[in-house]
Amino acid sequence: MKPYVFISRKLPDEAIAILKEKYDVHMWEQEDAAVPYEVFLEETKKADALLTMLSEPVNEDVLKAGEKLKIVANMAVGYDNIDVKAASRLGVTVTNTPNVLNDSTADLTFALVLAAARRMVEASEFVKEGNWKSWSPFLLAGQDVHHKTIGIVGMGNIGKTVAKRATGFEMEILYHNRSRKHDAEQELGAKYASFKELLERSDFVVCMTPLTEETRNLFNRNAFKKMKQQAVFVNASRGPVVNEHDLYEALVEGEIAAAGLDVFAEEPIGSDHPLLGLKNVVAMPHIGSASMETRFAMMKLCVENIDLVLSGNAPKTPVNKK
Ligand code: DGY
Repeated sequence: MKPYVFISRKLPDEAIAILKEKYDVHMWEQEDAAVPYEVFLEETKKADALLTMLSEPVNEDVLKAGEKLKIVANMAVGYDNIDVKAASRLGVTVTNTPNVLNDSTADLTFALVLAAARRMVEASEFVKEGNWKSWSPFLLAGQDVHHKTIGIVGMGNIGKTVAKRATGFEMEILYHNRSRKHDAEQELGAKYASFKELLERSDFVVCMTPLTEETRNLFNRNAFKKMKQQAVFVNASRGPVVNEHDLYEALVEGEIAAAGLDVFAEEPIGSDHPLLGLKNVVAMPHIGSASMETRFAMMKLCVENIDLVLSGNAPKTPVNKK
């Protein structure tokens, strides 16, 4: 019998051709809706391999249900949807998709910096709604990005790629990270700062840190109060790193100027989400890595990891030691 592979979202045939040739592949046949938990659990019981999205909770119950399970290949660089400790205990390999998405995610992050600073979404809506009556000196005037200070919290590979873009805008680059990044300091002129100093000095505070127990709720009222009144806050990592209620208050009270958000505490959000009512919020539906090229590269990496593990080899991009 061929090993059973379950893919938790409809992916194009061309992306999974190798799997289809060699394995018994089953797929949740919807592209824009997550597989219901019960179906996911039932499929996992049969599976040797899972190809999952960040919308699937791969918790201990799921992992225990997968009696034959050898690998969970997550189509994301972040893997906070997976109980990695339980996977390691149960001998299940977990893989993610690092590096292939650095540039696309950094592009979107920098686009959020620009869009929030220059009020681009607000301006586009203004034109589309027929409100443009004349050119005027301060019509939708925002803030410059060039020559300002950007503070990057979480200087992993994507953080560094954001910093690289900032050099093109001749920005001063501050970063905060668990460990010093000497390569970013030497190559990009980034300067290490404490979290407090970064918040106090940055014009743009960009959150790129993964979600862990230490980073959950990191951006709370205290953090926003330390930022400049003109500061723009951008989050392209994970929603729960930010206390959304506190962010809302900080924006409404004018403690910071604007926010660009690609991620939210509970996704997806509806149009009644309080942050969406604010003109100075640019909101995206978690599309950091969503270019066609990058999404295909992420699928390819998942497919390679599954094929390697099911043929008894080490995966390319493991996140756990079993
Ligand atoms: C990731 O890879 O973790 C992104 O958030 C999904 O594109």
